[in-house]
Amino acid sequence: MSKKIAVLPGDGIGPEIVREALKVLDCLRQEFGVAVETEEALVGGAAYDATGTPLPPETLELAKAADAVLLGAVGGPRWEPLDYSVRPERALLGLRSELGLFANLRPAVLYPQLADASTLKPEVVSGLDILIVRELTGGIYFGKPRGVRTLDDGERVGINTLIYSESEIRRIAQVAFDTAMKRGKRLCSVDKANVLECTELWREVVTEVGRDYPAVELSHMYVDNAAMQLVRAPKQFDVMVTTNMFGDILSDCAAMLTGSIGMLPSASLDEKGKGMYEPIHGSAPDIAGKGVANPLATILSLGMLFRYTFSDEDIAARIDKAVEAALDSGVRTADIWSEGTRKVSTAEMGDAVVAALRAQA
Ligand code: IPM
Ligand code: MG
Repeated sequence: MSKKIAVLPGDGIGPEIVREALKVLDCLRQEFGVAVETEEALVGGAAYDATGTPLPPETLELAKAADAVLLGAVGGPRWEPLDYSVRPERALLGLRSELGLFANLRPAVLYPQLADASTLKPEVVSGLDILIVRELTGGIYFGKPRGVRTLDDGERVGINTLIYSESEIRRIAQVAFDTAMKRGKRLCSVDKANVLECTELWREVVTEVGRDYPAVELSHMYVDNAAMQLVRAPKQFDVMVTTNMFGDILSDCAAMLTGSIGMLPSASLDEKGKGMYEPIHGSAPDIAGKGVANPLATILSLGMLFRYTFSDEDIAARIDKAVEAALDSGVRTADIWSEGTRKVSTAEMGDAVVAALRAQA
């Protein structure tokens, strides 16, 4: 039976980069007999403009009914003045929580072809391959009470709550350990257990879960130190697991180690392996519509979709290889361009990946 992907292009460069990923999918259908249907829906600012809400019920229904979701990006300055409740970002948070996508996998891989793109010295980042496992549906992003209130004396206070239950910690820890088992078998759990009781519990539960994974070498690190270690000696890490907010921050830091946020995909998974896949970068409104955005993070996200939701390692590996082959051929979008390589448009980069895939057939 044919599987279904809900395609949510979103805002800014979202539609341009998703278009290239769909070209790749078409090629997979033609050359490798992949049986996958797609259906598109509005999300983010585009959905707000058309319907008055960033996550229309039809979009949510489609996302729930599909086997997986491929998302471009949401947001842009046009929607920044809107009330918090209808900002494009709410759609992302709504999809994560409504679909129960608690496990966010964010790999940071330095492609040898792009070694010069990092702001760090080559010896610090060459061969870098780390994976951040970020808890995505709990913690301070969703904890209650929250909001801004006015006290009796007229002063306003802002409140957010950092809260994790043992079961929330346990399930993300299990994903992290399982992931570490498939990689270098080293896991670093990041917390702030010296100050925050909530993350003291985090550390305790992660340690407990670790007893079921004797083959994985578990370490713990405070988040401030982890931020420092990520720029000082990032190759010491294999898999890192952390809370929603720490993961948000550390994953941007890790992404930049590779010098090219335009290259990094992500997967957000539920308990059954259903997932939403999206590039780590945002909607980049400054370059939207110019045909210069890098589609590779979205194409690699499609690869993660095949790997994690469709359990089709063969197709996933083909996509990864085709991206590498495109880079080997010397084409670069503006964000990863360097002297001696050929600057190409978003569509030309998509074409280069498709050509590399066809060459594998
Ligand atoms: C991310 C983004 C989102 C987050 C925003 C857009 C809500 O920064 O996916 O990392 O904070 O989770
Ligand atoms: Mg972020």
